Amino acid sequence: MNREKGLLITIDGPAGAGKTTVSRNLAARLGYTYVDTGALYRGVALAAVRSGIEPDDDEGLARLCDGLSIGFSQQGGQSRLLVNGEDVTDLIRTPEISMTASAVSARPVVRTFLLDVQRDLGSRRAAVFEGRDMGSVVFPDADVKFFLAADLKTRALRRYQELGAAASLEQVEKDMARRDENDTNRALAPLAPAPDAVRIDSTEFSAEAVVEKMLEVIRSTTGEN
Ligand code: DC
Repeated sequence: MNREKGLLITIDGPAGAGKTTVSRNLAARLGYTYVDTGALYRGVALAAVRSGIEPDDDEGLARLCDGLSIGFSQQGGQSRLLVNGEDVTDLIRTPEISMTASAVSARPVVRTFLLDVQRDLGSRRAAVFEGRDMGSVVFPDADVKFFLAADLKTRALRRYQELGAAASLEQVEKDMARRDENDTNRALAPLAPAPDAVRIDSTEFSAEAVVEKMLEVIRSTTGEN
């Protein structure tokens, strides 16, 4: 394992478990890059919607991915998602794109395309990768793996508070349960903890407390930081 350039840390878990806040804060504490891999699936979903490609049209998705350039650029300490050179960061958080991202993420052609993109981003290490299959599939040799969980009601309430009044709590919970179902039951790279992941339940802990716990685990498993 090449630790010269820093560690590769993965954080997987279902929607609304607090992965984004925790991953971002953990990366900041370590001085590492934060990579939100869900944004990549959202970027592909946006491109598909714009091209009128249905999420189950594998040929269409293959053609789309073939010509797609997708990645991040750092601007003023913020990570922006670029799709074919266009900054689409502010367009990928709608309920429609959430659902389409979940649907296209079940297609092997999309996962294979993004596997290379993600591994390329991880080649320099010193990064915290947030996603669903980071520790299990994309980076099986990651230095420290976490699986962040929380119960459905808590996750739905957190997402509802983030969205403001854009949807009812019931609708948010229903959408979340459906996405959990899609993400957990898809044939390829389903949402599941890697066997060597450290599981943390955030239902009753603040993001700060979870980050402290993770730093402790990182210190004790690697002797670093
Ligand atoms: O984390 P998120 O809600 O932004 O992710 C959007 C969708 O992308 C989610 O429904 C599942 C999928 N996804 C995935 O399959 N694998 C990842 N590593 C990250 C996200």
